[in-house]
Amino acid sequence: MKGIILAAGAGTRLYPASLPISKILLPIYDKPMIYYPLSTLMLAGIKDILIITNEDDFDNFKKLLGDGSKFGINIQYKIQYVQKGIADAFLIGEDFIGNEDVALILGDNIFHGLGFSTLMKNAIEHNIGATVFGYKVKDPERFGVVEFDRNKKVVSIEEKPIMPKSRYAVTGLYFYDKNVCKFAKELLPSARGELEITDLNKIYLENSMLNVEILGRGFTWLDTGTHDSMLQASNFIQGMELNKGEKIACLEEIALNHKLISDKDLELQILKYGKKNNYYNYVSEIIQEYQMEQGVLV
Ligand code: DAU
Repeated sequence: MKGIILAAGAGTRLYPASLPISKILLPIYDKPMIYYPLSTLMLAGIKDILIITNEDDFDNFKKLLGDGSKFGINIQYKIQYVQKGIADAFLIGEDFIGNEDVALILGDNIFHGLGFSTLMKNAIEHNIGATVFGYKVKDPERFGVVEFDRNKKVVSIEEKPIMPKSRYAVTGLYFYDKNVCKFAKELLPSARGELEITDLNKIYLENSMLNVEILGRGFTWLDTGTHDSMLQASNFIQGMELNKGEKIACLEEIALNHKLISDKDLELQILKYGKKNNYYNYVSEIIQEYQMEQGVLV
């Protein structure tokens, strides 16, 4: 399965903070926002990733993540010149996707929860058509909303409904089969002029090929589209990291644990960042722990 991170938004809601730089590169606590969706794809076992950026930030994303080799993955980039909607990712990414299944994650979505990696891997393995994730929220009218019948079967899916039929928001993580580009080409712009991801999901629903996995109480999903939600997310990550002494979405740690890079390569890589850096000191500790577990260090 391939992966796409959609990170081309203008971020006008966050101006002036996001005027000189994409909001997806702004920090959520101790790392750039894009680290979180990228970690989600890596935890799902996805190694081939396309990042869709806007024209202005193309070089900045490349500067940060390069070709992905430092995390043992392959990253390619494409520009979305005009914000045509989330489903436009499948028109821009068509060549990249080829004939494979694909995961799409929005650049401003953060997921955290025990067993999320296994849940995603199971969803990928059993995906027939499309799999999306439902999450109970108090303000469903801000999101795509999914309605279930008594047997937990999906009945409808609506984008930002005035009268939501449930409290289950559709999160910004989507798994699709290889028909996705074909279906995306059938879409027409909505009243707000966008190719809506919800309209794409409706096509799968009409074909009885939409599966909705519910993320229960043990999971946290944050859409960091506003100043308040960014601060809330930073506070959440800080709280979790300080409490446990473990970082969330540390890409080097994920790469090492998934054997995407070797401890030796990682050691060499982080040398250049010196010792006065909290993030890389943590990576250094992770490498030492790893080497002790492997019996390299005693
Ligand atoms: O976060 C989940 C929600 O994401 C879903 O529940 C909704 O169904 C879905 O439409 C979307 O709603 P948002 O209102 O959050 O979408 P927004 O326009 O803010 O775009 C989400 C991210 O995608 C944002 O970082 C900007 C980026 N984006 C968006 C569009 C429309 C692009 O890069 N290109 C685009 O053309």
